[in-house]
Amino acid sequence: MSRIAYVNGRYIPHADASVHVEDRGFQFADGVYEVFAVYKGVLIDEAGHLDRLERSLGELRIEMPVARAALVQILRRMVRRNLVTEGLVYLQVTRGVAPRDFPFPHAAMPTLVITARNKTFPGREVKTVRVIITPDQRWARRDIKTVALLPAALAKQKAREAGAYEAWQVDDDGYVTEGSSSNAWIVTRDNVIVTRQSDHNILRGVTRMALLDFADKNGFRLEERAFSVTEAKQAKEAFLSSASTFVMPISQIDDVAIGNGEIGPVSKTLRLAYFDAMDQIAATTRAGR
Ligand code: PDD
Repeated sequence: MSRIAYVNGRYIPHADASVHVEDRGFQFADGVYEVFAVYKGVLIDEAGHLDRLERSLGELRIEMPVARAALVQILRRMVRRNLVTEGLVYLQVTRGVAPRDFPFPHAAMPTLVITARNKTFPGREVKTVRVIITPDQRWARRDIKTVALLPAALAKQKAREAGAYEAWQVDDDGYVTEGSSSNAWIVTRDNVIVTRQSDHNILRGVTRMALLDFADKNGFRLEERAFSVTEAKQAKEAFLSSASTFVMPISQIDDVAIGNGEIGPVSKTLRLAYFDAMDQIAATTRAGR
């Protein structure tokens, strides 16, 4: 079956889906996005992603394109119509179409685009990945999930060219902010899980919140604070988190090996816990249908 895209109220063949050349998403990167994991046919952390969407839109003073309840129905329909059992749903909202001018237009209707596709995620058992360190060249409001992703694309490309999976970006003081499309975590020598506090410098990862919640409830020692590149390179374990990777263990930062090349015990516990949580979400959501 060919894929279906959603564009401003219409479900259309993916190949025919388009937006206007004067869309402010295209002209100014004036828009925000979300990426949802789909697991066993169910949207994972649906409320968390919708909360963050509302927050990002609010920060940019863009209206929700449709009411939240209607959006939920559209998202679920997209999962069904594209026969997604395991994969990703991508949602983008822009300020809409208006003659090119910098200030916000008065009468633009927000543009809403949604796509969905199957993708097989690495399962509970996973190989480690390498990350490199790169300066954080993004803007000062990284907490808004903006579509202005050129610095992120450049960082990811740099990682790929260095044979790494992700680039950990560092601020001017030498502290890690986050990956180009994931949050950054370490486990210190004395077994404290550390990830940067959620201020304007990082995106408030929905997966990050779920992991913090689990770790807190299960007696792990946690610190939400900035950590330096030096501290990261001395860590016992390091991993990254996002809606498309869940918990991904790291074997190397630049040229420095982390752990023994295998997933460390804390990363493993968190990865398995996230899969258990997804199984639970899938089971309760499907039972409620
Ligand atoms: N990226 N930090 C950045 C800069 C991100 O782009 C993402 C997600 C995250 C993790 O957030 P979450 O756990 O809510 O996915 C952190 C998505 C997956 C993407 O751009 O494809």
